[in-house]
Amino acid sequence: PFEVELSKSGETLTVPEDRTILETLRDAGYKTVSSCESGTCGTCKTKLLSGEVDHRDMVLMDEEKEDFIMICVSRAKSGRLVLDL
Ligand code: FES
Repeated sequence: PFEVELSKSGETLTVPEDRTILETLRDAGYKTVSSCESGTCGTCKTKLLSGEVDHRDMVLMDEEKEDFIMICVSRAKSGRLVLDL
């Protein structure tokens, strides 16, 4: 598991091994947009403020990977991610 901090709400959520960031956000009552939920469409692109991401999507270009995360598939490499949500 790892933590996701939501900078706008100030809330921190724990993402279990068997859940995605997207599912965890929904479980907590956040409305999130998504479509493919498999890392290919680009809908769930979210701004990343800090943290080391394990990128698992097929959408982001290399130069975007410092600043964005596809939350339907990607995870943290370790510790905590801070998202602009
Ligand atoms: Fe399609 Fe995440 S919902 S890339």
